Amino acid sequence: MMKERGVMVVDLILIFVCPPPSSNRDMTVLRCLLHPIPSSFGKPLLTLTSSRSSLQSRINIALSSSCSSFSSNVSTHSSPFLSEIHDVLKGYLFGQKKVTEVAHLVWKLVVQKGDTVVDATCGNGNDTLALVKLVIDDSFKGCVYGMDVQEDAIKNTSCLLDQSLDPGQRECVKLFSVCHSKMANVLPTNVRLVAFNLGYLPGGDKGIITQSATTLLALEAAKELLLPGGVISIVAYVGHPGGREEYDIVQRFASKLPAERWACSHIEMLNKPMAPVLILLFKR
Ligand SMILES: C[S@@+](CC[C@H](N)C(=O)[O-])C[C@H]1O[C@@H](n2cnc3c(N)ncnc32)[C@H](O)[C@@H]1O
Repeated sequence: MMKERGVMVVDLILIFVCPPPSSNRDMTVLRCLLHPIPSSFGKPLLTLTSSRSSLQSRINIALSSSCSSFSSNVSTHSSPFLSEIHDVLKGYLFGQKKVTEVAHLVWKLVVQKGDTVVDATCGNGNDTLALVKLVIDDSFKGCVYGMDVQEDAIKNTSCLLDQSLDPGQRECVKLFSVCHSKMANVLPTNVRLVAFNLGYLPGGDKGIITQSATTLLALEAAKELLLPGGVISIVAYVGHPGGREEYDIVQRFASKLPAERWACSHIEMLNKPMAPVLILLFKR
């Protein structure tokens, strides 16, 4: 906080709000919000808003003095991973990083080498490749399953993996041209992560798009296959026809999961209503 001509200038405002069950949380005018999905009404919300990007470093101080051990660790440790957490979160909060980068960061926090993980919408293969780098170890333990309804998407993913991986790593990836609602037919149980990046194939046919009904079935299936300690990560796009409805359905699904077994949250930019939203369902 600085004093300029007798006026207090605040660089960063941190607001914790405990909404009563009936409150209308849409009334908030703050710019960026991280909060629990409605099943956690009554729990505090963390809201961050900043007016000056040149003062980004202040967020460290504000977070470490105000929030959980997670954020204070971020500002006091210097390992490359903690510094990456710091960079991605800060970048997102200040509107410079995409929510998909936050999703990748969360995956890194959850998965370990040797895990089995799933890309439920492999598209052009970027997320599949990111998952391979997280789980395949030097002895080629770990497994990545990818699926997509479009043959073109499977080809694009396969091509990217062939170019980017050595043969041993490539063998640890299994791709299926199948609707994700049928994932239980092709996947093992005990998966650490199921990632959904909803919508259409970038550069492909925009008419072939994830549908609320099959997305919901896929979430039900993923819920059963997931290990405790695992996460279902969903990036939902609300800017195309049907996208908002699909997001609402995912949110309703998440809100109904029992809080003693699941921790569900979403991350979105409030003043960019068409920006994609990240929904995270952690299985306790
Ligand atoms: C936004 S793209 C995914 C991007 C991808 N993860 C990447 O890193 O490039 C969404 C993908 O979902 C696929 N899709 C649509 N409906 C599906 C379904 N029912 N089951 C599996 N994939 C589906 C589309 O074909 C499209 O490739």
